[in-house]
Amino acid sequence: MSYVVTLSGSPAARSRSTHLLGLAETALRVHGAAVRRIDARELPAVALMHADFGDAAVRRAVELVEHAQAVIIATPLYKASYSGLLKSFLDMLPQRALAHKPVLPFATGGSLAHLLALDYALKPVLASLGARHVLENVFATERDMPVVDGTYAVTDAIADRLAEAIESLVRALDDAAALRSLRDGRRMSNERPTREADLFVR
Ligand SMILES: Cc1cc2nc3c(=O)[nH]c(=O)nc-3n(C[C@H](O)[C@H](O)[C@H](O)COP(=O)(O)O)c2cc1C
Repeated sequence: MSYVVTLSGSPAARSRSTHLLGLAETALRVHGAAVRRIDARELPAVALMHADFGDAAVRRAVELVEHAQAVIIATPLYKASYSGLLKSFLDMLPQRALAHKPVLPFATGGSLAHLLALDYALKPVLASLGARHVLENVFATERDMPVVDGTYAVTDAIADRLAEAIESLVRALDDAAALRSLRDGRRMSNERPTREADLFVR
């Protein structure tokens, strides 16, 4: 079974970006993945602001990320960047916390104006945490997610984009699982690796 962590970086209790995460979680469970959510807004604010690495709740959340096989990170766009709340949590992660994990970013914004923030602001941070496989993001504006009957709806285009992104993530998880069993098999048999396997591992 694949183990996926979803991380919500919105400070808002009612949040479009977190709603996208909920849809992704449902889809991943249908694909047989185990999913755990971290809501950064639920973590102790003082511990995050003071970078208290010893705080028990923060440590549990960090461990969830460390043990995940993939991470979906959702953020609102704030002031042409991702949220400060998300950054305060990412700052608590060990340097290589995202190594060997596919990472799928989600973002919502008031308009398309700051869409590139994911590339110029979030991606370098993910790279500094060891992420080498950042999947194509899912981005929705407020117009793409109107309130209908007291909850958020998504346009067909966003629903399709989300489904496509989840398929890509599931494929990436399958590839990673194949790679792991290849490595484990090689370790067990202690055989000289084939050139194909060598290339594949790299
Ligand atoms: C403090 C603040 C700053 C914002 N800055 C931007 C911005 O720079 N660019 C943008 O496209 N939207 C901006 N927005 C709009 C939010 O990104 C948008 O409402 C988003 O859907 C909120 O996501 P959430 O519901 O998950 O919190 C801002 C909203 C707030 C509250």
